[in-house]
Amino acid sequence: MKTLGVLTSGGDAPGTNACIRAVVRTALSRDMNVVGIRRGYAGLMEGEVKPMHGHFVGGISHRGGTILQTARTEEFKTGAGQEQGLRSLKKHRIDVLVIIGGDGSLKGALRLHEQGFPVAGVPATIDNDVPFTDMALGVDTAMNTALRAIDKIKDTATSHRRAFLVETMGRDSGYLALMVGMAGAAEAIVIPEAPSSCEQILELMKEAYGKGKAHFIVVIAEGAEPDCRTIDRYLTERGKELGFGVRVSILGYIQRGGSPTAFDRLLGTRLGVAAVEQLVRGNYGKMVGLFGSEIVATDLEKVVKGKKEVDLTLYELAQMLEVYPPA
Ligand code: ADP
Ligand code: F6P
Repeated sequence: MKTLGVLTSGGDAPGTNACIRAVVRTALSRDMNVVGIRRGYAGLMEGEVKPMHGHFVGGISHRGGTILQTARTEEFKTGAGQEQGLRSLKKHRIDVLVIIGGDGSLKGALRLHEQGFPVAGVPATIDNDVPFTDMALGVDTAMNTALRAIDKIKDTATSHRRAFLVETMGRDSGYLALMVGMAGAAEAIVIPEAPSSCEQILELMKEAYGKGKAHFIVVIAEGAEPDCRTIDRYLTERGKELGFGVRVSILGYIQRGGSPTAFDRLLGTRLGVAAVEQLVRGNYGKMVGLFGSEIVATDLEKVVKGKKEVDLTLYELAQMLEVYPPA
């Protein structure tokens, strides 16, 4: 009887618990032993391994975060750290491993695969910066959380006739900001993938107020240049002359938490089942991802070498819709 291990690594992403449930129950249905590794690669190196029974994963699909907890550790990026991880896998008699995490975690998965250990990867990160999947686990929930926040900010912005700078997460990717900015009908969106300047944003702000808009919402990705603080300083200074108040709202970690949407629960479930199926079939070193409505497995090597691009035609579309006079 084979033993399957499962771990979650990097930034947590809603939908991960549904994925863990699917991994555990699919493996059990395939007559495997299942163990959970706590705190990602850090827990793997330290041997934080516990058996997982089917009932352990009951009633978790609706919960945010990860029941296995997660971590980031620089040590696992080193050969010594990976060797320690491999020793721990051997010691706990783990034969195959499912790794649920973002692009960094999937690099770690590839390192284990390259050293002959059978792995399968599941993309889970609110940044949606993993290539070879339309959506990573957690993105849909994060978008909806950020969108609800923007809707609320718009209420207070409109009441005070204010400009609001809303910073979203995403690390180096503008995906979350772009999607949320479009869905929230922001007046401006600032992402790392497209050039922008404080002067341009000021012009848009003047235009918006000139057209009688009661609010001016700018959604700014955390990795954008200029960043939220720089834009704030610039607009606050100029805004005074123009008579507008400027406020900042950094959405931060609320975007990572919360109960997953139906989309993320279903995606987590499908990806979890598919990851185990890959291992059962002996297709090692793959990441399972979503292509349209299909789940497709791609070599981790291709995933790690690839780059996910933000669709700039959507950015142009958003710009075209940005500052429009109210009826
Ligand atoms: P995410 O998986 O959400 O992108 P990180 O980039 O922080 O988050 O990666 C999570 C963990 O994966 C890191 O703390 C590290 O332990 C491991 N990892 C990241 N990059 C590599 C790498 N190049 N080689 C081996 N392990 C890595
Ligand atoms: O990768 C997910 C993410 O939430 C990024 O959007 C953000 O830059 C980063 O993690 C924050 O990391 P930490 O949890 O280590 O502060």
